[in-house]
Amino acid sequence: MTTTAVINIASLVTNDPSLGNGTPLGLIRDAAVVIEGDRVVWTGESSKAPATDNAVDAGGRAVIPGFVDSHSHLLFAGDRTEEFNARMSGLPYTAGGIRTTVAATRAASDEELDANVSRYLAEAARQGTTTFETKSGYGLTVEDEARALRIAARHTDEVTYLGAHVVPADHADDPAGYVELVTGPMLDACAPYARWIDVFCEKGAFDGDQARAILTAGRAKGLHPRVHANQLGHGPGVQLAVELDAASADHCTHLTDADLDALGQGDTVATLLPGAEFSTRAAWPDARRILEAGATVALSTDCNPGSSFTSSMPFCIALAVRDMGMTPDEALWSATAGGAAALRRTDVGVLTRGARADLVILDAPSHVHLAYRPGVPLVSAVWQRGERTL
Ligand code: NIG
Ligand code: FE
Repeated sequence: MTTTAVINIASLVTNDPSLGNGTPLGLIRDAAVVIEGDRVVWTGESSKAPATDNAVDAGGRAVIPGFVDSHSHLLFAGDRTEEFNARMSGLPYTAGGIRTTVAATRAASDEELDANVSRYLAEAARQGTTTFETKSGYGLTVEDEARALRIAARHTDEVTYLGAHVVPADHADDPAGYVELVTGPMLDACAPYARWIDVFCEKGAFDGDQARAILTAGRAKGLHPRVHANQLGHGPGVQLAVELDAASADHCTHLTDADLDALGQGDTVATLLPGAEFSTRAAWPDARRILEAGATVALSTDCNPGSSFTSSMPFCIALAVRDMGMTPDEALWSATAGGAAALRRTDVGVLTRGARADLVILDAPSHVHLAYRPGVPLVSAVWQRGERTL
């Protein structure tokens, strides 16, 4: 197999604390990375790099692991420009807007849905995302949820069944019947395409008992839980997520001390989604407080047409640093290794021997520029599974 070395890297983030400067980022100066097939086979100081078949000169710039976007909702049609406009004129965000997208998504063809996923993924890839998770949740019938997941599974292994996004208008008078559908025939139709099951546990969506029933039913079918928790207000979502050993509790905007204790003690990752607070003009989650509680934090886009219509991980990093109390190092870690932890993966989000060869050259001398130069397209080259894609 051919070996390629990326050389002349001013600053390399490996996310292996045993390497380089000994911080969680495992930062190596004057570094090189060697790729063979779809794997990293060596990382270290340039002067010690083994001989390879090819070399790519990084030109004294920074290299980071590809971003791991562990939370997106890409299976939808249409957009909600008017709702956004109304919000920016002072109206609050509510979960009710989801039903607008449900109507548009049900009316769309398979080809349209597939083309939309491809389009937003291409956008994300240009901004350095190399692994992503995506969900159903805008179909909310057996057929529409199953088709969303079938299409999602063409694009990623990280597929999440979110039949419990909201109670659809057609079941408004019978929420218990909808929970039975989600835990019965809809789950049966969706489980073959999904790895994860998610619930929007929030006032106006599903309460703690409903969420527990849904996640438990999913687990019995081999799906692992993750939870939309404590986004719009306080509630049982975060503690339920930890109790069920969910891979992540997502949003975590409104947390009590008991929620923080739970996150600090369990293995559930707190996934923060600053695009949602930006786009709904909501209060920011306090990342500092969550980190100090001892929790693992991931950063993701939440890309969806309602609350966070961005596919940009660099944008989320900049917001997390500016407004959520994270350092540039913490934000970069959370957008790479943190996302991997939220997907219970160790093969991505790191650049060490044996990891998947997913890496990004930034047009900057260090990863700090992602927050220092917000809005600037700094991603200048991308390798995904060892293939140069940008
Ligand atoms: O993660 N909170 C629930 N779901 C999405 C928003 C969906 C929508 O408004 O369409 C979220 O923010
Ligand atoms: Fe979401």
